[in-house]
Order: sequence, then structure tokens, then C-alpha cells
Amino acid sequence: MNETIRLLNGHRSIRQFTKEPIAEHELEAIITAAQTASTSSGVQAYSVIAVTDPKLQKELSVLCGNQAYVEECPVFLVWCADLQRLKTAVQISKGDEVEIASTTENFLIATIDTTLAAQNAAIAAESLGYGIVYIGGIRNQIAEVTKLLGLPELVYPVFGMCVGKPDQAPHIRPRLPQKAVLHRNRYDASIQENLINEYDEIYKAYISSRSNGAACSGWSDAMGDKMPIPTRIHMKEYLRQQGFYLE
Ligand SMILES: Cc1cc2nc3c(=O)[nH]c(=O)nc-3n(C[C@H](O)[C@H](O)[C@H](O)COP(=O)(O)O)c2cc1C
Repeated sequence: MNETIRLLNGHRSIRQFTKEPIAEHELEAIITAAQTASTSSGVQAYSVIAVTDPKLQKELSVLCGNQAYVEECPVFLVWCADLQRLKTAVQISKGDEVEIASTTENFLIATIDTTLAAQNAAIAAESLGYGIVYIGGIRNQIAEVTKLLGLPELVYPVFGMCVGKPDQAPHIRPRLPQKAVLHRNRYDASIQENLINEYDEIYKAYISSRSNGAACSGWSDAMGDKMPIPTRIHMKEYLRQQGFYLE
């Protein structure tokens, strides 16, 4: 083990923050770390909006499903997939009449680039003693968020991220047994059921200790409740309207 792996293995989402602001030079260091993430062919197809305006944070917290920590954290980062800047680059190079290809592949590239940059930022923030939580709730009312933040065509918010000094010390959430996710040479589906059963017991103990015995459902129950229900079905039409035609 080394310091970096210890830091990664110590991750847990933080949902209560102190009022301590983030120094500008630390925010800049976090974003520099984000920018060093690998990026598909160097396209750097993302932008991040650092929201610190309390009124805006309040509005976003409501739009994210009344998640109070969006308002309470000192900085709320909105990570956006961004093909708009690339459109400008193409126009500079080729002239106004040439468009970037609006393919599913380019949508994926932008979304992947955004995610890699954000996760680098998360690790950098944690290394500086901050805590983070990703906020997928930003897609609950994504059209309203898009308007509020003035996002142009070819830009969409993939997720938000609360950043701040932790004011809580939650348990680390246990992950699946490594054998369930690490396959050797070929994919092996046959072992999954046993490993899920194994994980269910670990997960039940975690949920029980987290809730002081009030709940003790397994991971398969949690996924069974969640995964059959379609969520955010507005995303397809929203992405089309933002210029991600997904051809
Ligand atoms: C893309 C993404 C979106 C998420 N959205 C939310 C969210 O809206 N609200 C929230 O409280 N946690 C959110 N989370 C945090 C997850 O619930 C959390 O990472 C997961 O339960 C594992 O727990 P841990 O981060 O403490 O290890 C999100 C995580 C990811 C990766």
C-alpha cells in the first residue's frame, strides 16, 4: 500500500460540510488535477462550473431533488460534457459551414472525458482534506438547470459535485467482492450469483450498523427495488434538444 491507494480506499461520500470556504488556490489545484486526466485524442470535451452564489446554490439544491448539501457546501461543481468548444475549434480551422459529427460516439467521448476529469478532481480534493459527493440529481430537472446556468447547445450537465470540509465521518460503504468485478482473460457469469449472496450479507451488516439496526436489506434487494424503475426518461429528448442527436 502507498499513500495514494490508502487515500482512494478511504473514500466515502460526504453530505455534511463545515462553513469553511475553499481557498481559491486550492480550487485551482483541484481543477488542474482534473485537467491532467486522460482525454480522448486530447479533445478535453468538458467544462466545469464552480457555483458559490448562495441564491444559485439554493435554486440548484431544489432542482436536484431538495438535496440540502448542494446549498450547504462551500462550492458546488457542475461537471458538463462540452462539444460546444470543439465546434468553435472546428469553425476556426475549417470555417463556419463545417459541423462536428453529432454521433453517439462523440456524445460518449464527451461524457467519458467529463467523468475522468471529475474523478481526478474528487481525488485531488480528498487529498487536500475535503470531502465530496457526486450529485446525479442535477439531471432530475435538467432543462431548468441548463437555463439557470446558461448552458449553450452541445453542453449538458453530467453530474454535480459538492465539495467542502467534512462535518461528518460516515462509514466506508463496502464494495462487491473483487472476484465479482475482476475477470481473468474471459468474462465469467457463472460465479456472480454466489458472490452476490456473499455481498448481500456484508451489505446487510453495513446497512444495519449505519441505521442502528433500523434497516438491514441486502444489495440485491436494493438493486431489485431500483433497477426495474425507469428514471429521468426525459434525458433522450433533452439531449436531442441540446444538439446531441445520437446518430
Ligand atoms: C454519478 C453519481 C451520481 C450520484 N448522485 C448522488 C446524488 O444525487 N445524491 C447523493 O446523495 N449521492 C449521490 N451519489 C453518491 C453515491 O450514492 C455514492 O457514491 C455511493 O452510494 C457509494 O458510496 P460512497 O461514495 O460513500 O462510497 C452519486 C454518485 C455518482 C457516481
